[in-house]
Amino acid sequence: MKDKTLLMIPGPTPVPETVLLDMAKSPMPHRSTEFSAIFDEVNENLKYVFQTKNDVFIFAASGTGAMDAALCNIINAGDKVLSLVIGNFGERWGKIAESHGAIVERITVPYGEVIDPEVLSERLAKDINKEIKIVTLTQSETSTGAVNDVKTLCQIIKEHGALSVVDGVTSVGAMDIKPDEWGIDVLVSGSQKGFMIPPGLSFLVASEKAFEAHKQCKYPGFYFNWSAYKKNLAQHTTPYTPAVNLVVALHTALKMIRAEGLENVLKRHKENAMLLRNSLREIGFSLFIEDDNIASYAVTSIYPPEGISVPEIRKALKEDYNIIVANGQNDLKDKIFRIGTLGFISERDILTVLASLMEIMKKLQK
Ligand SMILES: Cc1ncc(COP(=O)(O)O)c(C=O)c1O
Repeated sequence: MKDKTLLMIPGPTPVPETVLLDMAKSPMPHRSTEFSAIFDEVNENLKYVFQTKNDVFIFAASGTGAMDAALCNIINAGDKVLSLVIGNFGERWGKIAESHGAIVERITVPYGEVIDPEVLSERLAKDINKEIKIVTLTQSETSTGAVNDVKTLCQIIKEHGALSVVDGVTSVGAMDIKPDEWGIDVLVSGSQKGFMIPPGLSFLVASEKAFEAHKQCKYPGFYFNWSAYKKNLAQHTTPYTPAVNLVVALHTALKMIRAEGLENVLKRHKENAMLLRNSLREIGFSLFIEDDNIASYAVTSIYPPEGISVPEIRKALKEDYNIIVANGQNDLKDKIFRIGTLGFISERDILTVLASLMEIMKKLQK
């Protein structure tokens, strides 16, 4: 049935109709007072969702663009970066750091596990000469559905003195993260996740300490240079042509988040994820992340039941019920499937996917 698709992947996520209608309007001139008024409101509401007093920069780029923007502004060639890897997206930080000439050391755990704060503490304690300048980490690791204890890890990094750079691509707006209070130096996210708009924008917030490091950065690049965004933001505008229609979409979506209240939005994500997790267990599925304490509220990774393969489940969900769920990534491809509960997702959507899975099991396990 046309227009009845239920998108349950961890991004892109469903977009509310009000947002779609607003972004369908003719593009407005980006140097107009009309656009600046929208841009100002967007910036205020982004600070609310990011739980920060600092400016949140908006880039016309996907989440990886903001990750690049995070590192190119603070790395000088030869700097030592410690990269905490719990999955596919954690691995990306190290690759980006290396592309800017950093020497990268990795602490890697098997997929499905998270970083033990003790291990980080011990490693940083050995860095007596403070050679490690930056530590990168991921909050919600979308490839596995595991969540790092960012608050504790960033506290440890702060005590050492390095800059903490955090991927909040599938956690900002879905799980609690407080950059100012938790001492996170750089935090990034992407529009097609908890923000309820299509892909194309990404966001970055940097602490004062990160900005000091930025000032010492010899080659911060051009398009992502933080100084240009900061200077223009103070003048209610952007350094280059913004993705005007996406900013308009974001304006509407952020107002919806504000009306619901961030606390309620986060509570909805938790309740939906837990409803999904508990119900899946009851109907005979096992979860890739068994421990609820380290489970993402944005994405849940699931093993298929005995006798049914991941491609069969995904195909049946798509063909019989118009529900799209994600496959596993890399080594986990066809071993697990992933259900996104991120952004514009309600309890009804969770119940629909659960009922559909139960029907599919009946059909396929015969
Ligand atoms: C945790 C995480 N980090 C980074 C990214 C990369 O974002 P993008 O694909 O928008 O570049 C993703 C995308 O799914 C993600 O889930």
